Amino acid sequence: MTERTKITLPHLFDKADRGDPISMLTCYDFPTATFQEGAGVEMILVGDSLGMTMLGYDSTLPVTMEDMIRHAQAVRRGAPGAWLIGDMPYMSYQPSVETAIRNAGRFMAEAACDAVKLEGGQEMADRMAGIAAAGIPVMGHLGLTPQSSSALGGFRLQGKTAKQALKIVHDAKALERAGAFAILLELVPDQVCKLITERADGCFVISLGSGPHAHGQLLIYHDMFGLYPKFKPRMAKVFGDAGSVIQEGLERYVHDVGERSFPEEENYFRMADDAYEELLSELEAEV
Ligand code: KIV
Repeated sequence: MTERTKITLPHLFDKADRGDPISMLTCYDFPTATFQEGAGVEMILVGDSLGMTMLGYDSTLPVTMEDMIRHAQAVRRGAPGAWLIGDMPYMSYQPSVETAIRNAGRFMAEAACDAVKLEGGQEMADRMAGIAAAGIPVMGHLGLTPQSSSALGGFRLQGKTAKQALKIVHDAKALERAGAFAILLELVPDQVCKLITERADGCFVISLGSGPHAHGQLLIYHDMFGLYPKFKPRMAKVFGDAGSVIQEGLERYVHDVGERSFPEEENYFRMADDAYEELLSELEAEV
């Protein structure tokens, strides 16, 4: 694989200005990062969704900074050219501006991330401004924000009424003013995403299940390949059913081991006959 040129923030802004859609995916491990790098994915989010997709929790809340750093490091090793974003886990930025800056700095220093992302609107604008002032590119996340899913009434469409939508539009402006380089809109109506995208000034908008009008699109990697067994959200397009391929392969493996049809000769090694004879004599001499 030829190494690609490192994606930079000016490159992403150029694309957004030209109306050329930006591709973004979540990723949590080295092999997948290698595939995504090879495919030319421009932005990679090491999401705290790894708590669900990789660690089997029912929500993202138990995920720690240590979990995030370990996975972000692995992804960076596999995708040196992508614009890599570390997702700030629950309570790594909510307590104070200082906590937010310190933890954002860890993503940059320990995992070679290019940026961080945090959830929340106007109430998080001071955390966002603090991180941006520390020289760390920071992305906002509005709409369905999984760390607040309990307060939001579950994993469901946000901004359905005019009043709710107006709050999201105002939140987006507050984040933009606080220095966000980009805003992720998760599961908001298409028209709301379009409005925010058209009004964006100095930041670009990425859509997750929020329609085609944003500057770029994000999908959860596990959803696009049928790799999350618990549910498949409607917003996710399945680009390949890797989950079924893996399940079928595993069943064949168990069957082949049971039937002794695995391993075959090409799957193992033999020593030379004379070396084996010598080994037997050595063993006999030991008795
Ligand atoms: O953790 C994550 O993957 C995210 C996405 C849901 C946007 O924040």
